[in-house]
Amino acid sequence: MNKKLIKDDYKKKLSQINIYNKNYYDKNKSLVSDQEYDHLKKEIILLEKKYSFLKSKFSPSQTVGYKPSKNFSKSKHIVPMLSLANAFSEEDLNNFEKKILNFLSKENFEISYSAEPKIDGISASLTYIDGKFHKGLSRGDGKEGEDITKNLETIDDIPKKILSNDFPEKIDIRGEVFIQNSDFQNLNEKFANPRNAASGSLRQKNPDDTRKIPLKFIAYTFGFEKGLKVKNQFDFIKKLNEWGFKTNQQNKLISGVKNLIKNYKEIEKKRLDIDYDIDGIVYKVNDFELQRRLGNISNAPRWAIAHKFSSDKAISKILDIEIQIGRTGALTPVAKIETVNIGGVKVSNATLHNEDEITRKDIRIGDTVTVERAGDVIPHILSVDFSKRLKKSVPFSFPKKCPSCGSKTIKEFNLITKKKDAVRRCSSEGYYCEKISIEKLKHFVSKDAFNIDGFGKKIVENFWKLKLIKYPQDIFNLDFSKIENLEGWGKLSVQNLKYSIDQKKNISLEKFIYSLGIRHIGLENAKLLSKHFVSFSKFKNLSKQIDYEDMLNIDGIGETQVSSIESFFSNNTNKKVVNELGNVLLIKDAIQNSGDGLLNNKTFLVTGKLNGISRAEVKSLIEENSGKTISSVSKKLNFLIIGDKPTKKKVDYAKQLKIKVINQAEFLKMLNKSS
Ligand code: IVH
Repeated sequence: MNKKLIKDDYKKKLSQINIYNKNYYDKNKSLVSDQEYDHLKKEIILLEKKYSFLKSKFSPSQTVGYKPSKNFSKSKHIVPMLSLANAFSEEDLNNFEKKILNFLSKENFEISYSAEPKIDGISASLTYIDGKFHKGLSRGDGKEGEDITKNLETIDDIPKKILSNDFPEKIDIRGEVFIQNSDFQNLNEKFANPRNAASGSLRQKNPDDTRKIPLKFIAYTFGFEKGLKVKNQFDFIKKLNEWGFKTNQQNKLISGVKNLIKNYKEIEKKRLDIDYDIDGIVYKVNDFELQRRLGNISNAPRWAIAHKFSSDKAISKILDIEIQIGRTGALTPVAKIETVNIGGVKVSNATLHNEDEITRKDIRIGDTVTVERAGDVIPHILSVDFSKRLKKSVPFSFPKKCPSCGSKTIKEFNLITKKKDAVRRCSSEGYYCEKISIEKLKHFVSKDAFNIDGFGKKIVENFWKLKLIKYPQDIFNLDFSKIENLEGWGKLSVQNLKYSIDQKKNISLEKFIYSLGIRHIGLENAKLLSKHFVSFSKFKNLSKQIDYEDMLNIDGIGETQVSSIESFFSNNTNKKVVNELGNVLLIKDAIQNSGDGLLNNKTFLVTGKLNGISRAEVKSLIEENSGKTISSVSKKLNFLIIGDKPTKKKVDYAKQLKIKVINQAEFLKMLNKSS
């Protein structure tokens, strides 16, 4: 890159951060998340480090906060209010300590730190003269703050008069003004977060407006002083308490980076239980004499650092978009991103969910994005920073052909939502598509399916590559002599594998159905189907229209599932898989209901609308009482229940077959229930 481009980029970043600052400090508005702000700040500082010709007095390396607003008169801080450098890792802390020791030219010296939770509020400086609260300033740009004395006076936590003998003649006590989360929830006025609420109310023109908001104050440092007798930070905090200030109960005296980390982790765990926002821990060299020696580097002290909590969000860049193909043929786009640390975990992939998500958020390769990671959920893209979009960027075009087998990709019509699916799929069914087949096999051996010990995903991929398996039945016809000669295998491991496979040849119908990986047939539905079919032979010979219609009578099975099973069996490869598995396995019949209910051995069919009870409930009532529902009038039917506007044809045919026709009340009476 040439010099001009670098300068332009630097200037652009500076003006961006100044817009953020102006909004943040003047209007109490956060245009971006803290992480995004920190990221931009870091980028600017890195640029300055890399290119010595970049310099500006507006740079965040030179300034603190933003110029004071015009609403208040300004006043100079006698001692500037500094900012803090950030640390994000143990490595950063080790460097921090090393630099201090180097600076002090000390070896084998144990530094004690005052470790204090970093409250995410607004800092303020309170000047006391002869024990009386004299003047209160906001931080402003660090050199000059706004005179907000009247507003600060409304805060109960701020002592107005201190009578203690050892209180310095003159001192400016500094600390954080904030609002508790519980109080923030009860505010009528809407602010984006507690910090903005605190900042907004602290800078009201009329102090009566400030008074309405329950602001708190925690003291933690001082600026200038005359007559202060303490020698270290921890004793100073003790004194603050004695003088009537609130201090943080979680403050600790700690030495050694390992112990700092331990404390950091403990507090981070407790973070959500604390009623105010903290965004890290501040470590301050405890000894004032050492602090004095260490001094400052431009706008931050050398003797303190803020160890920030890792957040769930981070900024990164999309390097590429890959398409993964699942067992059901779903094409899942995955963003390959520049590796970022989110909550202590290195993230380099983020799911993009499906084609619609990409279109909706207009996510493109090369974009700068915010990535979010919550708990163990796969990280995903929260938003795109369009201001950073490259000129040459083009919308992502989702593959219209399956990247694995070349089949057309389609979006199916969803029977329930009556809309096209958001997910695009490979249209090939069964085992034609390599990626789908591998995923099907992985599912087949997985924990809830055949659960074959030692037969993991890697082995599936490996055996597939070596053409040892293609279909599930191949697992039961493996040539073990071939495996024995493979790298990483030996006699014993092959024996173990053979044993695990043999063990699983005896399987329940329910697990068997689930293992086939039929779309929409998860564990629950497989259980329902196995109860319905009872035996493998009935399931295997499923082919007639009537069988499918009958399935609709299973409570919990709907059209979506039935049409999925229908399409599964309409595929010859699938049929072959089912048959061949039947030959090598012993598939146990489902255990039937005890059959002692009130409707034992009776079959029912409902026609017309019932009153105050759904079809689904009727079905489950019948099944609970050992009865069965069927889907059409036939000789197999015992009772036709008629509701409002029944189908005449059904009623006539039932009568013709001399089937009992009953109404809702009569049906409920059979169950000893009244309507
Ligand atoms: S000491 C030179 N102690 O963090 C020392 N600051 O980025 C600077 N903060 O402006 C202040 N808790 O708003 C200090 N226990 C604590 C703090 C703390 C929160 C804030 C404060 C400061 C900012 C520095």
